[in-house]
Amino acid sequence: MTTRSATTAAASTSGPLVSCAVGYLSAWLAARTRMVSSQPKYELIQEVGRGSYGVVYEAAVKCTGARVAVKKIRCHSPENVELALREFWALSSIQSQHPNVIHLEECILQRDQLAQRMSHGSSSPLYLESRFTLSIMAARPELSHFIRLVLVETSLKGEITFDPCCAYHLWFVMDFCDGGDMNAYLLSRKPSRKTNTSFMLQLGSALAFLHRNRIIHRDLKPDNILISQARTPAGSSEPTLKVADFGLSKVCSASGLNPEEPASVNRCFLSTACGTDFYMAPEVWEGHYTAKADIFALGVIIWAMVERITFVDAETQKELLGSYVRQGEDIVPLGEALLENPKMELLIPARKKSMNGRMKQLIREMLAANPQERPDAFELELRLVRIACRELDWDT
Ligand SMILES: Nc1ncnc2c1ncn2[C@@H]1O[C@H](COP(=O)(O)OP(=O)(O)O)[C@@H](O)[C@H]1O
Ligand SMILES: [Mg+2]
Repeated sequence: MTTRSATTAAASTSGPLVSCAVGYLSAWLAARTRMVSSQPKYELIQEVGRGSYGVVYEAAVKCTGARVAVKKIRCHSPENVELALREFWALSSIQSQHPNVIHLEECILQRDQLAQRMSHGSSSPLYLESRFTLSIMAARPELSHFIRLVLVETSLKGEITFDPCCAYHLWFVMDFCDGGDMNAYLLSRKPSRKTNTSFMLQLGSALAFLHRNRIIHRDLKPDNILISQARTPAGSSEPTLKVADFGLSKVCSASGLNPEEPASVNRCFLSTACGTDFYMAPEVWEGHYTAKADIFALGVIIWAMVERITFVDAETQKELLGSYVRQGEDIVPLGEALLENPKMELLIPARKKSMNGRMKQLIREMLAANPQERPDAFELELRLVRIACRELDWDT
């Protein structure tokens, strides 16, 4: 099972590191345009996040000054390559943009001074399968089938053959979210029903969009939901949420699924138990699940948001939004408790009067032990809109 927690570092980056990284991006530009250019396209400003995968920077597009986020992943281990490819495959498979899903501007593969833009599709004759992956397969034969599968499945293309002696990096250029993650944003403010309603609607819409595009996120949690405080065109006073971190996501292949029928994502069965334990559905712990696992995770998040239920992460000591059950002194993830006892009644709401009857019923259904009793993302989106409309009526 993979459990991960993100560590955000506020420290700013040292000068040499920034200029070195700018050099790489400059080299990318030169390689891409097939001419020598001394003008880097992006200027790194500061480090905004760090994890076992690599580092995320705030950066500026040189010619416009627009802010972007640049996530740099070092491709030195099969695990990192896998995370990077999953993220690339999911974000680049989306044909249109959604305001609540992080947008991938471009992805750059870089080795020393060589760099090139990644693309997927079948136009290039060369695959990314290379001496690098062959060396991983030799060292870790148990992974070779998987690596081949990922590479073939993703059809990633490249023109540089990997050399195991060189360091390779993937750079993801994305929307920059200036408001931190959902934990930091909500927990530093007083509870607001208006903000909660807006966030629920945005999350419902993002998940319906992802599932319509046959993407199962598999690691929905407040750490991976980022906030952009830039003014929205509609002039809403609430910030914009962006679902991010697609390192564990799965794009369900169209074979066997009807691409015209969005709900078919709910029949795509997966078996890799992954996610972060407090947000994992009972069937994920067992390793046999569908897109309904994302609905469960969103149920944990929405319940925690509405009632301000938090726990302290043992590893990072950070306070995190997430609902759970108490067993004596211990707190136990909901999915784990429901796996043990599927008939367990959840105490929703945990505090009296904190939510209306419709919301209570919806959260109960999202957290049903049996995934078939949960609404799918399309029904969820509609029901959240109905609940929000009633809330607004009530306010005016
Ligand atoms: N687009 C972005 N804008 C601003 N900060 C970001 C962005 N993407 C990631 N970060 C920061 O970096 C952290 C780690 O990024 P994430 O994609 O979640 O990687 P990980 O796989 O380590 O969890 C996030 O929690 C966030 O603080
Ligand atoms: Mg993350």
